[in-house]
Amino acid sequence: MLHAMIMAGGGGTRFWPRSRDRRPKQFLSFAGDRTLLQETVDRISAQVPPERTWVLTGDAYVADSAAQLPELPASHVIGEPARRDTAACVGLGAAIIAKDDPDATIIVMPADHVIEPVAEFHRAVHAAEQLANENPTSLLTFGIPPTFPSTGYGYIELAGGAGTRQGVQASKVAAFVEKPDDATAERYVVGGRHLWNAGIFVWKPAAVLGELRANKPTLHDTVQRIAAAWGTPDFDRVFRAEYAAAEKVSIDYAVMQDAGKAGKVLVLHAPYQWDDVGSWLALERRNPQDAARNTVQGLHVGVETGGCVIVSDAGHLVGTLGVTDLIIIQNGDATLVASKDREGEVKKLVDAIRARG
Ligand code: GDD
Ligand code: MG
Repeated sequence: MLHAMIMAGGGGTRFWPRSRDRRPKQFLSFAGDRTLLQETVDRISAQVPPERTWVLTGDAYVADSAAQLPELPASHVIGEPARRDTAACVGLGAAIIAKDDPDATIIVMPADHVIEPVAEFHRAVHAAEQLANENPTSLLTFGIPPTFPSTGYGYIELAGGAGTRQGVQASKVAAFVEKPDDATAERYVVGGRHLWNAGIFVWKPAAVLGELRANKPTLHDTVQRIAAAWGTPDFDRVFRAEYAAAEKVSIDYAVMQDAGKAGKVLVLHAPYQWDDVGSWLALERRNPQDAARNTVQGLHVGVETGGCVIVSDAGHLVGTLGVTDLIIIQNGDATLVASKDREGEVKKLVDAIRARG
């Protein structure tokens, strides 16, 4: 049976000041009413019912997540007692799901992406399920043709074709390289043999846990000990006692790079549009602009103002005069003013603010 495991424990600092530590981006909405977390669950809900949907997040976000997803069983919103990145999260999720359903197939999804149209996503999921059943020891990823040399993504080097499923092309993978440097990313984009890793994985629990055991045995044993307590009154105590000591590493570095080299990764060429809602400019991509190309949420009066992204709380008026291409975000007692071409660096500012205390 297909289970969905949603990773919703990231920090999302690039959305300061709207995403302070207490509300990272997955709990915010960027278009319409539904938050990114809700949109993620909505997207898979036609194929995976709530009884097989799991959310892993930080323990501080459990209440928010559960309130946003009332249809999920309460025990399926799992709060990690420490932030240990995605290898621990993915390993633990796989080990817990395997206890429930040893023959499961798991689709692992980040909570912070926009995917359209949803029908094409469904076709891709259907194809992935089929491919995983045919190749139960492989790790499946979804690939997107790169459009610029991003250093924030993983890159998948294509080997030979592996046919189509549901009309979706599958390929063997020669290598998986997480977050390459500028020059390497540039080479990959120009070379035409690489796809971006879209951050969605499909696998059998035994496949990913086997790779985790081979590459990170201590981390593997930790998540297995925690999962062994799943469903017992001891679970919280064991989780708390063990998890914080787990190595902090992402699944991409911990498993995917080595598995890629070893020929254990397969990629499906995603038939859908994909946007990693990475920074404030995602708002501009997801919403209509006014006549002066401004993207506005809230009250704004602009004179000779163009190409800006302007967000404010209800009832808070923002006035601008003679400015272009700025990001202006007011939230409660903080306001961000940034040049649009520096949008990727908001984290730098957040670090400076934190350092100030
Ligand atoms: N539960 C939990 N616990 N979730 C986490 C944790 C954690 O400790 N850390 C991160 N996450 C969640 C984030 O909220 C996000 O939904 C997802 O896991 C991926 O983490 P990111 O930190 O956003 O990863 P990334 O964007 O740098 O890189 C990954 O995604 C790219 C595509 O967006 C990699 O898989 C790349 O290869 C990929 O290209
Ligand atoms: Mg991300």
